[in-house]
Amino acid sequence: MMIKTLPQVHIETFGCQMNESDSELVRSLLKQEGFSFTEDRERADVVLVNTCAIRENAHKKIYAHLSELKTVKKQRPLVVGVLGCMAQNLKSELAQKEPLIDVLAGPDSYRQLPSLLAAALESQEQGFSQKGFALDLSEYETYDGIMPDRVTGVNAWITVMRGCDNFCSFCVVPYTRGRERSRDPESILLEAREALARRFKQITLLGQNVNSYRYGEWDFAKLISAIADQPGIERVRFTSPHPKDFPPTLIEAIATHPKICKHVHLPLQSGSDRILDMMGRTYTGAEYLSLAERIRAIIPDVVLTTDIICGFCSESDEDFQATVRLVEQAQLDSAYIFKYSERKHTIAARKYADDVPDHLKGQRVAKLVEIQRAITGERNRRYIGKTMEILVEGDATRSSKQGMGKTDGNITVVWEKGTGHSEPGTLMTKHIFDASAATLYGK
Ligand code: SAH
Ligand code: SF4
Ligand code: F3S
Repeated sequence: MMIKTLPQVHIETFGCQMNESDSELVRSLLKQEGFSFTEDRERADVVLVNTCAIRENAHKKIYAHLSELKTVKKQRPLVVGVLGCMAQNLKSELAQKEPLIDVLAGPDSYRQLPSLLAAALESQEQGFSQKGFALDLSEYETYDGIMPDRVTGVNAWITVMRGCDNFCSFCVVPYTRGRERSRDPESILLEAREALARRFKQITLLGQNVNSYRYGEWDFAKLISAIADQPGIERVRFTSPHPKDFPPTLIEAIATHPKICKHVHLPLQSGSDRILDMMGRTYTGAEYLSLAERIRAIIPDVVLTTDIICGFCSESDEDFQATVRLVEQAQLDSAYIFKYSERKHTIAARKYADDVPDHLKGQRVAKLVEIQRAITGERNRRYIGKTMEILVEGDATRSSKQGMGKTDGNITVVWEKGTGHSEPGTLMTKHIFDASAATLYGK
């Protein structure tokens, strides 16, 4: 298929790193078919919105964004495509509710995007509107052989597995991204070599359940070690793992390979065994703690981070206190803490009442954030007086006079730039002289 004029596409990405990575795939798929991309929405013939469905807040953000696009579309011709998890989750309901949408495509259907967009552009030119939907989930699609059109920078995302079979009762991901499937390691390694040839310094391996990666003889420990062995690489990260898949070989690989970052994101979700069981997480609070201890024993300087949900169905004060106690015991380096948000289709939505009042969810989140902030501050102060290796990412958000980079453990460091230039992608050592719960200050 060839298109007469080069349509300009603008893409906006919401949600997690997997969506960032998918947007890079979409850019590659569309460029192959003669579309070009623009950063400037005002100049775009097509606006694509890659969406997230994980919490109701994510939906709200996207609805607000779509109503902005409605105003744009009143003023000039525009094709609007909605991609990603919210498209997959709400399907035709979304298209009916939002007449401005011309194309809907879910995470496994992006190969169909070029033809759907071309049809939408053509029908618009002829003065009518034809909607196009591609919403089938696949058991096999891994987009092998499509080299992502990467956003330039220091880090290259590589999706190594897609979907999720865990069906944690609160979570919409198995419904928006379908069954779990791992990519051929050869194609992953090819992609890694290509990214390194283009001078990306860090590779982050992605999957909703990344450590359950399996392809024939290959498990995640073998895969991450093979990536870390590639010439030119400085750092390898991975996200998100599930606590159920941490064999000793993986912990060993992280501990011993100099290029594998000593950071493990270990989602806890709750400290109450009753709630963990209802969530379908397959571990108890004690088992979580002992895994954290095992990881720390083998990787002494490891940075451990987590996700926690407050106010899941039937969560009592006692359950919440169990989470507080576990957080205090575990002394993790930082945590993302969320209010439970009921999602359509999920096991929890079908089986349990969303019965914790919203204000109580909010109170519990605030309380836990306060407790974790103190722990994080304390943990970060351990670095004061130490010299650390930083991978420079660019300017600090606050001021272009400050540089910003990450430690091996993924903690943000800022410093005054002064005379010595620090190009993104370079490794530097910084002496840490101060720390807050969010940032280390270096010189
Ligand atoms: N696959 C990853 C996480 C996916 S979503 C994993 O298993 O760790 C990221 C985080 O969002 C989850 O860890 C969870 O804490 C949170 N989350 C997921 N569904 C949610 C919901 N319905 N309400 C509130 N938080 C949720
Ligand atoms: Fe969702 Fe659980 Fe799968 Fe993570 S492991 S994506 S929380 S179902
Ligand atoms: Fe959101 Fe889908 Fe990622 S629901 S968190 S964009 S997998």
